[in-house]
Amino acid sequence: MRVLVVGHGPVAGVLATSMATGHRVGFAVRERTAESRLVGTRRLRTARRVERRSVELVTAGERATGWDMVISTASPASPGVAELLGQSPIVAAVTQVPSEVELLRELAGDRPWGLVVPEFFAGGADPTWWWPPARVRFTVAGPASASLRSLFTHPRWSRTAPLWAPLVSAAATMPVVAGLHAEDFDLTAARRSSRRLAAAATQARNAVAAEFGAPAPRPVSPHAVRVALAVLPRLAPFDVPHYLRGHFGGHGTQTLRMLRDWVELGRRHGLPADRIEDLLERVSA
Ligand SMILES: NC(=O)c1ccc[n+]([C@@H]2O[C@H](COP(=O)([O-])OP(=O)(O)OC[C@H]3O[C@@H](n4cnc5c(N)ncnc54)[C@H](OP(=O)(O)O)[C@@H]3O)[C@@H](O)[C@H]2O)c1
Repeated sequence: MRVLVVGHGPVAGVLATSMATGHRVGFAVRERTAESRLVGTRRLRTARRVERRSVELVTAGERATGWDMVISTASPASPGVAELLGQSPIVAAVTQVPSEVELLRELAGDRPWGLVVPEFFAGGADPTWWWPPARVRFTVAGPASASLRSLFTHPRWSRTAPLWAPLVSAAATMPVVAGLHAEDFDLTAARRSSRRLAAAATQARNAVAAEFGAPAPRPVSPHAVRVALAVLPRLAPFDVPHYLRGHFGGHGTQTLRMLRDWVELGRRHGLPADRIEDLLERVSA
């Protein structure tokens, strides 16, 4: 298959290098990125026109025709991404933001579409690192699940889940990330608000479950949040606060969009969302 990956960040890197070698991979990047890459690296300059190593570089905004599948690691709402997603028979994105999932579904229309959700922490550029390495790398969901799974070199690098699963799962973890954001990624300070963060996560999970038809989720326990915040830095073989600040600090808009979506879904389904609203206020402050 000819697969166009939108973006060139860590997730795009893990995705592309997890695909079986028979697939031909292209990256769609913004014009300014293409320019710096083309000036800076001979490898990519060559790759742009000649498919050496089966990699092509496409500039977002160029016509991106002839791809069997487009997978966006950028938000489907980001400028130019909808156009890229508009042209291939199968479309997918890594997003777990409810309104972006709805946008993807809308853009897909009658075409098969899906989510490819990372099950790891990834960072770096060249080379990209990810952790933990020896386990499932992506959860795939949606009508295009079978095609998405067929991309990976090993069947164990991906698993299929119902659409609601990665969205409910993000609703458990991302309120904690939002809490870290509000505390400038100070894990000790965030641990002190475990109770409030768990309450926001429980409301977010209920809102997402109601919208996407999931079974009633279990409440998130404050103890689990406290333990996760204490244990993660001890287990992970990288500087967790540095990673969190670098990655999520740069994705604040996405975190806010998620919080707003959960409030909106909670209201739509007549569910309480006051704890998410409190968190939203703290993150926006
Ligand atoms: N990294 C992780 O550990 C991890 C884990 C789970 C989930 N995720 C999620 O996966 C997604 C990607 O993560 P990441 O770490 O790879 O993030 P990232 O480094 O921000 O990568 C996103 C890529 O998308 C590109 N992009 C953004 N808007 C674009 C546009 N309009 N047209 C073309 N390219 C565009 C960016 O290009 P520019 O450089 O030009 O901005 C960047 O290369 C995020 O939603 C993230 O929350 C990441």
